Amino acid sequence: MLGKTLVIGVGSMGSALLKGALDKGILNANHTSVLVRRSEQLESLRAELGVIGFIKMPPLEDFQTIILAVKPQVLPTVLSQMDSLREGTTVISVAAGVTLSTLQRALPKATIYRAMPNTPASIGCGMTALATDVADDTSAVEALFAAVGEVVVVSEADLDRLGALSGTGPGYMFVILDALADAGVRIGLPRVLAIKAAAQAMYGAGKMALSSGEHPAVLRDQVTSPGGTTIAGIGAMEKGGLRSALQDGVLASYERSNELGK
Ligand SMILES: NC(=O)c1ccc[n+]([C@@H]2O[C@H](COP(=O)([O-])OP(=O)(O)OC[C@H]3O[C@@H](n4cnc5c(N)ncnc54)[C@H](OP(=O)(O)O)[C@@H]3O)[C@@H](O)[C@H]2O)c1
Repeated sequence: MLGKTLVIGVGSMGSALLKGALDKGILNANHTSVLVRRSEQLESLRAELGVIGFIKMPPLEDFQTIILAVKPQVLPTVLSQMDSLREGTTVISVAAGVTLSTLQRALPKATIYRAMPNTPASIGCGMTALATDVADDTSAVEALFAAVGEVVVVSEADLDRLGALSGTGPGYMFVILDALADAGVRIGLPRVLAIKAAAQAMYGAGKMALSSGEHPAVLRDQVTSPGGTTIAGIGAMEKGGLRSALQDGVLASYERSNELGK
């Protein structure tokens, strides 16, 4: 049970979480508050979701759970306004690169979680890595992120690794999708049709991998008949460095995230 909850920052990620959790009944609008900066946004969230709203930090004693969904650079200011937090409050931060120890130092009374979701959370297809140093029972916080997709509880080191794979993953997929659509146009397809066909192929392949539990190499084997069209395509892509480019991309993202976390 998350209890009375305050969401601080309702941008892309805060709003995906808030809407998903309200929709799935993990949060109850009567016990859910938001802290935003603009009164127009406050009014529209009140009208749309029926939540309670603030444009200044409210007293925090009443809240059992606080979700921090502001940008990492804004977080220090927000943390400095959270003195009234009571002992044992659950605080969940989605801010990339801000470590559990930094959060714990700023909020010594809180039970801290870090989460690394991704943008498909906004359509209920997210992938969230969750880490905590202190909590034994993570089920209530897991349920929050399960409202917007899949969730795995991992070490903080793995959360940072997953940031470079699933956190940034939708960005990689959009580039691959755009490139495949370009290829479709190059062989004569209209762009809209090429995008739809490539996106559905990505979606279907991802779903097959998840639902079958098979190794991707087994699934690929099933569609590459000897001397056929798929193996011809894969051969040319691999000659162009597809696999190593993807590995290098994830590695570069991980290294960048380590630099930013310092
Ligand atoms: N988007 C992703 O793919 C993704 C993935 C994993 C983690 N995250 C993390 O999620 C967090 C939010 O990212 P986002 O993409 O949702 O950013 P975003 O869309 O810019 O949302 C941030 C929100 O915080 C609000 N805000 C700024 N200062 C505030 C304050 N003092 N009090 C209350 N609200 C304040 C902003 O309001 P204004 O619009 O009025 O400035 C904005 O609505 C980041 O820490 C990011 O690292 C994002």
